[in-house]
Amino acid sequence: MTKPLSDYDSRASNTIPAAVGQGVPVVWMNPRYRNTAEILPTLPFSIVDVENTEKRWRCFDPLLARLFAELETGRIDSPLLSLDPSSRRRIAGNDDGAVLVKADHALPITGCIKARGGVYEVLAYAETVALEAGLLSPGENYACLAEPGVRELFAKHSIAVGSTGNLGFSVGVMGRALGFKVEVHMSHDAKDWKKRRLRDIGATVVEHPGDYGSAVAAARASFLDKSCAHFIDDEDSIALFLGYAAAAYDLERQLAALRIPVDSAHPLYVYLPCGVGGAPGGVTFGLKLLFGDVVHPVFVEPVASPCMLAQLATGIDRSVSVYDIGLDNHTAADGLAVARASMLVARTVGELVEAVVTVPDDELFLWLGDLWRESNLRLEPSAASGFAAAQRFCAATPGLGGNDRATHVIWTTGGALLPEAEFQEALSRARALAKAADR
Ligand SMILES: Cc1ncc(COP(=O)(O)O)c(C=O)c1O
Repeated sequence: MTKPLSDYDSRASNTIPAAVGQGVPVVWMNPRYRNTAEILPTLPFSIVDVENTEKRWRCFDPLLARLFAELETGRIDSPLLSLDPSSRRRIAGNDDGAVLVKADHALPITGCIKARGGVYEVLAYAETVALEAGLLSPGENYACLAEPGVRELFAKHSIAVGSTGNLGFSVGVMGRALGFKVEVHMSHDAKDWKKRRLRDIGATVVEHPGDYGSAVAAARASFLDKSCAHFIDDEDSIALFLGYAAAAYDLERQLAALRIPVDSAHPLYVYLPCGVGGAPGGVTFGLKLLFGDVVHPVFVEPVASPCMLAQLATGIDRSVSVYDIGLDNHTAADGLAVARASMLVARTVGELVEAVVTVPDDELFLWLGDLWRESNLRLEPSAASGFAAAQRFCAATPGLGGNDRATHVIWTTGGALLPEAEFQEALSRARALAKAADR
């Protein structure tokens, strides 16, 4: 399904800038970035796959509305917000350019972008199980998947996932709401409150001594050939990828409603926090299908965990890890603490990502504090990274700072459900940093 390796230029190997290995923030322009028209026809997925995903999502609306009181229409989407003037000025360099926030930190039910993929894959699995058992027929109202008889069937099935926390929560919430057994494999250093939150909804949390990548590998191995079970592979799932890609329709609709033009005179810059790459990769794919070359995807990674930058700079014929270049993968942005990028994503969107910006943890906290104070946005550190990156990207890109025709969309990927104590701790770190910087 993935693009043949020979299509890539392996001569471009070993081009990771030295600064990346030293943990210095960079704005890395992807030398493999290509025109959309050249790349999209070579990819294993197309607009038809994303359209079908969107249609399938809509089949589940009545089910979601039945299961979750907060989802009146059943649609899981977030608002597109304007940023406060002072933050906007810091990023775009003027008062006129549009700087918008795609507020997935407030996505209903889970408060994070990973729901777009994780909830979707659980629903798709539920559909398959129910169809096979003859408890659902095509065209039937999917709300019937919440009936007690169907729940009994789901209770005999397990779903497993390896996660830094937010994918696990998304899978856990959806899987448990339908009655599945859910097993979430997490690294030992994953946040305690994320583990507790999962146990509270009846999921089993399995802790692993290594990092996120080893938790995923262990989960994959333990579910191999298991019957009545489904493993959601954060590194390699097409369903996750397409679930994220469908988000592009939401953004397209919201920009149109605001009458914000997106064309060659009005480019759209989208800043996407990147862990393993599934969420930003899927969204990039969807946006490129809808907007083509006038959308400029910029991935954002912590200086200690630039796995996608390292992967794209090295080429896609072998997987590289940030440990290989001397980094320790230690970051407060736990959702982005990933040492190795998804090869599925690197191979699919590697030539559609315009740039990767790496950001130091301190900047995440400073932005987190400012955005709470100025814009009332409750973000986790991973989700604040897009602001730090947008500021650095605009400053480094000639003609972009002060360009009032460009629109910048910063995707805030998690945080609304952060426990109060965690959030207060993040705010006090932000205050200490601001004081030290004499701001
Ligand atoms: C808050 C947050 N932002 C961004 C991401 C990145 O998503 P991905 O790992 O699919 O690149 C994650 C991943 O868990 C996350 O939790």
